[in-house]
Amino acid sequence: MSTKKIVIALVVLSFWGANAQQRIPEVETLLQKMTIEEKIGQLNLLTPGGGVTTGEVVSKNVEAKIKAGQVGGLFGVAGPDKVRVAQELAVKESRLGIPLLIGSDVIHGYKTTYPIPLGLSASWDMELVQQAAQMAAKEATADGINWNFSPMVDIARDPRWGRIAEGAGEDPYLGSKIAEAMVKGYQGNDLAAAHTMLACVKHFALYGAAEAGRDYHSVDMSKVKMFNQYLPPYKAALDAGAASFMTSFNDVDGIPATGNKWLLTDLLRDQWGFKGFVVSDYTSLNEMIAHGLGDLQAVSALALKAGLDMDMVGEGFLTTLKKSLDEGKVTEEEITSACRRVLEAKYISGLFEDPYRYLDSKRPEKDILTKENRALARKLAAHSFVLLKNENQLLPLQKNKKIALIGPLADSRNNMLGTWAPTGDVSLAVTILEGFKNVAPNATIQYAKGANVSDDPEFAKKVNVFGPRIEIDRRSPEVMVEEAVALAKNSDVVVAVVGEATEMTGEAASRTDISIPDSQKKLIQALVSTGKPVALVLMSGRPLTFPEEFELPVAILQVWHPGVEAGNAIADVVFGDYNPSGKLTVTWPRNVGQIPIYYSTKNTGRPAPESDEFQKFRSNYLDSPNSPLLPFGYGLSYTQFAYSDFKLDKQSIGQGESISATVTVANTGNFDGEEVVQLYLKDMVRSITPPKRELKGFQKVFLKKGEKKEITITLSPDDLKFYNSQLEFVSESGEFEVFVGTNSDAQLSQTFILK
Ligand code: BGC
Repeated sequence: MSTKKIVIALVVLSFWGANAQQRIPEVETLLQKMTIEEKIGQLNLLTPGGGVTTGEVVSKNVEAKIKAGQVGGLFGVAGPDKVRVAQELAVKESRLGIPLLIGSDVIHGYKTTYPIPLGLSASWDMELVQQAAQMAAKEATADGINWNFSPMVDIARDPRWGRIAEGAGEDPYLGSKIAEAMVKGYQGNDLAAAHTMLACVKHFALYGAAEAGRDYHSVDMSKVKMFNQYLPPYKAALDAGAASFMTSFNDVDGIPATGNKWLLTDLLRDQWGFKGFVVSDYTSLNEMIAHGLGDLQAVSALALKAGLDMDMVGEGFLTTLKKSLDEGKVTEEEITSACRRVLEAKYISGLFEDPYRYLDSKRPEKDILTKENRALARKLAAHSFVLLKNENQLLPLQKNKKIALIGPLADSRNNMLGTWAPTGDVSLAVTILEGFKNVAPNATIQYAKGANVSDDPEFAKKVNVFGPRIEIDRRSPEVMVEEAVALAKNSDVVVAVVGEATEMTGEAASRTDISIPDSQKKLIQALVSTGKPVALVLMSGRPLTFPEEFELPVAILQVWHPGVEAGNAIADVVFGDYNPSGKLTVTWPRNVGQIPIYYSTKNTGRPAPESDEFQKFRSNYLDSPNSPLLPFGYGLSYTQFAYSDFKLDKQSIGQGESISATVTVANTGNFDGEEVVQLYLKDMVRSITPPKRELKGFQKVFLKKGEKKEITITLSPDDLKFYNSQLEFVSESGEFEVFVGTNSDAQLSQTFILK
């Protein structure tokens, strides 16, 4: 490390330190030289278009604006040579030569696309999650990017919401661990290093709680629910050192997040101590007009005063703040503070020391899509799969069978990467047909499409916005099913790859019906009717409601959208080279009427019987059990695990003390495998209604067949705490019940007293 780099690192360390209020001298000197227009220019984030954009507006005259010092950052530009052109405009042709932040949405891998975040979270493997983010950072920075619009840490409990695919599921504890691992992976220990990038925690806040699961919809929730259930992952990302935050499209307590002072200043900065900068979401500042908060000048002033530092694409800041300043509606100090935060981020990225730090044209070839990266993507994918069912222990398959590989997603390169993979290249993805041939060259594999993802051309048109995802065959559905059935009859075993096309989830892809489309349901029934053993490989970016298919005598492997190595990873698991170990991070409902459904629900004053039997005047439904189709934390293995000897090290503890739970886990089946040992806590009596149970610890352990291990999970004093009605983080004396087991229905339990 050069002396200068050590100095930057030290300044950054003290800058990010909990109570630090130091100013960075270089930034202060620069601020002195800046005109008010130049300061406002730094608050402007533009995209020149050309790539995937998620709004209706694309920035214009970008080059002229950069030269005029009217741009603080760009996104949607990649590749060292292209970024250099933009950076040189800023550095050489603007008056003060301030370098640009170069952002990107690197959501699940840069070019080496790995599973969608919901899938990755199902690995419950924090080391792997961190490695994934690290790889993404290395690839993205090789392509000139220094700021990533990730992690997305929104808790989501409504699978109608398409963006459930982009987060880590429903649980604040697990979500916090994943948020932390991703921030560490992107940012490393030194943000000025050429292979690390600034993280941007999004979407602050509560975006995942959109009413009725409809994207961009309103959110309204109590503060107690916010603090206990929805805010922890954002806070965990902040504590892990995240350099920036992005606001959400929704309102929070009646005020759009982008202009919400309570959220952006009182909570984020004053209470939580955030020192970085806050960017809006794509035109979310301007969208405050449609929210009903006033005209562009009014909402821009409101947002600045609320604590927003950078305006993505909408140019509300650029075009109105000077006027607002002249009219006394904002102060120079407010503009300077926002500008300071943007400049500080540039400083800690090392951009002032070397604006071309991320622009080495030799790096892409060296660092992107390497053999090692693809191997990691394959591993990540295999670790994300969840075995939902394994009738007659059908899986894993032997590698020498005659296999009918059927389904609209079995040979569909365009549907492997997953939603929100704009930096990936679908043409590089390995299909399942290819993966099977690679991994089981001695098997006889015959393929038939069997069905369209959906037979509805109107639906297909809406899904195909980023390219063909649902391709409706010229043949009739009947002919396709017949062909598939004939192949099935002529094979030892059927593998049917069914589910959602990639853009059936993701942004602006909410669904009110989250079942398997009819075309594919018919195919599945026809295949099962042949009497041949059937394994379903289920692809989706969300939980699906499929109680009928679930009851069929089949094996079901949930594979999400696995990324560039999809086919190879699926084959690895189907043929037993890797024993699946993923666990669901979101509850799978039986039907949409149960939504929102999540394991940490409240007991209510009239709880339904555990048996799921209907009881009048109890909290249940006439036409559906309360229980989900599949609980949070659920996932099978090719082997079996038995839990025994569960004990706590103490019967009672005082405030501020820890307690440890120990359980013996044995691999009693025929394969080596990994199990995610999960610990849930129930606070029996509390001043506010407690959840039925909450995840408070987990460990992923590898056990050889026949092996057993003692697993200890320690609960810290903070694990017993919650936010009370005064929003104080406290633990209250009384009895607690601890559960351990293989999913959130874990039954082994012990109690202890907190004195
Ligand atoms: C999304 C963000 C994303 C941004 C920039 C928006 O539509 O909500 O998650 O970072 O676009 O691409």
